[in-house]
Amino acid sequence: MPDLLKDKVVIVTGAGRGVGQCIAEYCALQGAKVVVNDLAKDDNGVAIAELVAESIRKAGGEAVSSTDNIGLMAEAVNLVNIAIEAWGRVDGLVNNAGILRDRIFHKMSEDEWDLSIQVNLKGCFNTARAVAPFMKEQGSGAMVHMTSTSGLVGNFGQANYAAGKMGLVGLSKSVALDMQRFSVRSNCVAPFAMTPMVMNGIPRETEEDEARWKVIERMEPNKIAPLICALISDEGAHVSGQIFGARANEVYLFSQPRPIRTAHIGDEAGISAEAIIDRVFPMFKGDFYPLERSMDVFSWDPV
Ligand SMILES: NC(=O)c1ccc[n+]([C@@H]2O[C@H](COP(=O)([O-])OP(=O)(O)OC[C@H]3O[C@@H](n4cnc5c(N)ncnc54)[C@H](O)[C@@H]3O)[C@@H](O)[C@H]2O)c1
Repeated sequence: MPDLLKDKVVIVTGAGRGVGQCIAEYCALQGAKVVVNDLAKDDNGVAIAELVAESIRKAGGEAVSSTDNIGLMAEAVNLVNIAIEAWGRVDGLVNNAGILRDRIFHKMSEDEWDLSIQVNLKGCFNTARAVAPFMKEQGSGAMVHMTSTSGLVGNFGQANYAAGKMGLVGLSKSVALDMQRFSVRSNCVAPFAMTPMVMNGIPRETEEDEARWKVIERMEPNKIAPLICALISDEGAHVSGQIFGARANEVYLFSQPRPIRTAHIGDEAGISAEAIIDRVFPMFKGDFYPLERSMDVFSWDPV
C-alpha cells in the first residue's frame, strides 16, 4: 500500500464528483483519513459526498462525509469540526469546490457575480480560516486551492469566475506568508480535467468543437490527484506560495507577476500623462501581453 499520507487527515471540498472525488480517493489510497465534502445530492436525494466516502471505506480506507456549503462560514466551521471530532486534527485542506456562472460581461448579473465569488473565493477563505487555528496549534498543515487558467490567463464570459480564481492566488500567497512561521503551507493548482463542470460548459456543435472534445477527453480527472497528494505530503514540506498546473501527464509551474520594465521619465516637476503616452507606452509596447485566452497559451495537445 502506498502511504505518502499515512496518519494525515485531509479535507477535500466539492469531492462528491469530478476532480475532488479523484483527489479524495487518491489521498485515501495514500493512507489519509479523508473528510469528503460536497453539498450536492444525486437524483435519489442521496448526498454524493456520502457515496464517495462509502466507496472509500469499502475499499479499505477511512472516510467520513459532509454536506456543508463552504460558501457559508458557519458551515465551513462545521466541516472542519467534523474532521476534528473524527480524528482530532487536520493536516490537509483541498479547496476544490467551485462553480461556474458564465455570462458575457455586459450581461452578467449581480447575482451571478455574487454567487460565483461566494463559492470560488469566499468559500475558500471560509475553510482556510476555519482550519488555520488547528494547523497553527499543530505546527503543521498544507492547503491546496484549485485555481484556473480562466483567471491566470483569461477566457470569454467568465469575469466572475476569473476574479474569484485570481483572488485565490492572492489568498494562497497571503496564507503561505502569514503561516510560514507555523510551518503551514499553501499552494494553488490550476487543473484541466474532463468533468461535468467542463463538459456542461463547452459547446459540441461544429466540427471545430468536436476536435476540441477529442483533446478534452484525454484529460482524465484522476490525473490531477497525484500533484495534490505530493503537495500535502511531508515530502512537499519545502513547497509553498507556488502556482502549479496539471493536465493529463503534464505538470506546470506558473510565473508570478514581477515588474518586467521600468521607465524613469519624470523631472523635478513630476511625471505627466503626456510623457507616459509619448514615451512610456511606446517603450513598453513590445512587452505588452496579447489578449490571449487559456487555449491560446495552452496551444499544444496533452499526451
Ligand atoms: N475541470 C477543469 O478542467 C477545471 C479547470 C479549471 C479549474 N477547475 C477547478 O477545479 C475544481 C474542481 O473542478 P471539477 O471540474 O471537478 O468541478 P465539478 O463541478 O465536477 O465538481 C465541483 C463540485 O463542487 C461541489 N460544490 C459546489 N459548490 C459547493 C459548495 N458551496 N460547497 C460544497 N461543495 C460545492 C459541486 O456540488 C460539485 O460536486 C473547481 O474549483 C474548478 O473551478 C476545474
